[in-house]
Amino acid sequence: MVRIAPSILSADFGKLAAEIADVEVGGADLLHLDVMDGHFVPNITFGPPLVKSVDGQTDLLLDCHLMITDPLAYVEGFAKAGADWISFHVEAAGTDPGRVVDRILELGVKPGIAINPDTTLHRLKPVLDRLHMVLAMTVFPGFGGQRFIPEVLPRIAELRDLGFEGEIEVDGGIDAKTAPLAAEAGATVLVAGSAVFGKSDRGQAIADIRNAANGLEGDVEA
Ligand code: DX5
Ligand code: ZN
Repeated sequence: MVRIAPSILSADFGKLAAEIADVEVGGADLLHLDVMDGHFVPNITFGPPLVKSVDGQTDLLLDCHLMITDPLAYVEGFAKAGADWISFHVEAAGTDPGRVVDRILELGVKPGIAINPDTTLHRLKPVLDRLHMVLAMTVFPGFGGQRFIPEVLPRIAELRDLGFEGEIEVDGGIDAKTAPLAAEAGATVLVAGSAVFGKSDRGQAIADIRNAANGLEGDVEA
């Protein structure tokens, strides 16, 4: 069964605790937290203080997606704030992503690496066996509500061919129409921002995405 991780990027930050409770009650499996620094991506969101507050509001696992330039300098702050999974971009890690992975492991957190649609998977090869997750971006990072890039999907099979057995999370443009494509390709976790928080009934939105991904019948809203 594919798991669903709503991204709070598309939530109303003015009532964030209620928004989180809504998706937790609505059946979310994890909570995806998009951290942007205005440098690695042209958008700014939040840092460890907000992650800490969120941690105090929910029992959901916190899946922190760092879209930041210097992940090594900041992973400790996110670990202390309560992150359960931390992924950083291979494009931001310089020549030695393994150093960041080892630091995340030392901090007792599950490490993931995020990879942009146009970055070669071979950059992950040296660290694959230490990763809990690979986060395959199906949009260019920075904003919610972008169009899903289906050309990324064959990379999931390629990852398995390289011997990767961990979680494969697909992020960007996931809704009830694209979820089955990602699931069929082999994704184990699907991130959804606008397709969950943009709907009034979040429980229904999560169920629609989950059912579509798992090939189950259901009322799939367009
Ligand atoms: C984009 C973020 C995504 C974003 C997804 O940079 O990494 O997690 O929230 O939003 P949707 O589901 O609207 O594409
Ligand atoms: Zn994300």
